[in-house]
Amino acid sequence: MKVLVIGSGAREHALCRSLSLDPDVTALHCAPGNAGIAEVAELHPVDALDGAAVAALATELGADLVIVGPEAPLVAGVADAVRAAGIPVFGPSKEAAQLEGSKAFAKDVMAGAGVPTARSYVCTTPEEAEEALDAFGAPYVVKDDGLAAGKGVVVTSDLDAAKAHARACERVVIEEFLDGPEVSLFAITDGVTVVPLQPAQDFKRALDGDEGPNTGGMGAYSPLPWADPKLVEEVLQTVLQPTVDEMRRRGTPFSGLLYAGLAITSRGVRVIEFNARFGDPETQVVLARLRTPLAGVLLAAADGTLADLPSLRWSDDSAVTVVIASHNYPGTPRTGDPITGLDEVAAEDAPHAYVLHAGTKHDGDAVVSAGGRVLSVTATGSDLVQARERAYTAVDRIGLDGSQHRTDIAAKAAVGA
Ligand code: AMP
Ligand code: GLY
Repeated sequence: MKVLVIGSGAREHALCRSLSLDPDVTALHCAPGNAGIAEVAELHPVDALDGAAVAALATELGADLVIVGPEAPLVAGVADAVRAAGIPVFGPSKEAAQLEGSKAFAKDVMAGAGVPTARSYVCTTPEEAEEALDAFGAPYVVKDDGLAAGKGVVVTSDLDAAKAHARACERVVIEEFLDGPEVSLFAITDGVTVVPLQPAQDFKRALDGDEGPNTGGMGAYSPLPWADPKLVEEVLQTVLQPTVDEMRRRGTPFSGLLYAGLAITSRGVRVIEFNARFGDPETQVVLARLRTPLAGVLLAAADGTLADLPSLRWSDDSAVTVVIASHNYPGTPRTGDPITGLDEVAAEDAPHAYVLHAGTKHDGDAVVSAGGRVLSVTATGSDLVQARERAYTAVDRIGLDGSQHRTDIAAKAAVGA
C-alpha cells in the first residue's frame, strides 16, 4: 500500500512512524512533513491547505490511501478534493469537519444526538455575551466559535477577562464550567461503524500544576489507571455512536477520526469538544500502544469496511509523551534555534524512548526549531512510572535554547493520585 500523510506536526510523525513499521506499507510519503518525518517518509513541498495540489500529488504518487492529519486542511475541504480524484482518504469532508470547525455546529449536533455536554449560548454581541456570563457565573468559559489551534478558549474567574475575550471574537460560545478530569477518547469511523481507541489524557496548560495559558497540548499519557474500565464502552454508546448516527442522518456522514474531549464530572461524562482528527499530543501515546498495523485500519475507515475489521490489539505497556516547546509558546514562538541531543536519544534510549518532531526543519546539517511545539519526546514502559522515567531521561538529553516543557506529565496518575 502506498500511503500519503498530510501535515507536519508530531502527530503526523507518530502516524508516519507507525505506518513505517507496518509491513503492508510499501511506500510512505508526507507533505509537507518536517525534519523528523524525513527519516521515515519521502517529503513533498506541497501546501497542506491546497486540495487541488494534494489531490494532484496523491494521483502522481499512485497513492492507495491519503491520511489528512490536521484540522485546517479538513475544514478547507482537502479530503473532498482527494476523494473526488478517486483516491481513498482518511478524514472527513469539509461539511462533516464542521464538527470541529464550528463549536456552535457541534453543539447543535450534540443536541440532536442527545449527547451530554455543557449547557451553552452562542453570542454575537457584547450584550448577549454579558447576559450569558451572568447566567452561568464564575468560572467563565468563553470559546471562539472558529478554529484556534486549542488557543481560542478562555476559562477564568475574572469577569473582565471573560468579557474581553468575548469582545475579541466575532462569535463566541459561552458555556457552563465542567469540573472533573479530562479524557481524550478517539474513535475511527467509516460513517456507520465506530471503533474506539484507548483513552488518553492531555495536559493543555503551559505550566506545571495546570497553570498558565491554554496550549495545543504539552504532554499526554495512556492508559488512564484511574478511569472506570467501562468508560470506553459508555462513551461509545452515549457519545460516539449517536454522534456518527446523527451526522449520517443530517446527510453529512462523518468518516475518519472522531475525537471526543470529555470531562468526567460529578454528574457524569460530558463532551467538552469534538475534533475531526487525531489529537496532538495524545496520538503519540495512543499509537505507541496500538499493536494492530495502522494502515489497514485507516483504509477500512476510508473504504467503508470497518465492520469487517477484527478487534484492535493493544499493548499492556504505558506510554508518556512530553512536549518541548519554543521560548514564548503559546505566544509567538522564537524559532531557528539549533536542537541538540537527538542522536544521543537514538543511541541511548531507543527503542523504548524516541523523539517525534513537530516544528523542526533542516538548516544545513543542523536541525533547528521552526514552530511553537518543537518535539514530542515519547516513551513506553511496563507502567507509567517507567514510561515517565524513560521520557524525562530522553528530554534531559535534548538541548534547545530558551525551550520549555512541563515536568509533571502523568506524574499524578503514575503514583495513583
Ligand atoms: P476546547 O478547545 O473546547 O477543547 O477547550 C480547551 C480547554 O479548555 C479544554 O481542554 C478544557 O481544559 C477547557 N474547557 C473547555 N470547555 C470547558 C468547560 N465547559 N468547563 C471547563 N473547562 C473547559
Ligand atoms: N491535544 C488537543 C488537540 O489535539 O486538540
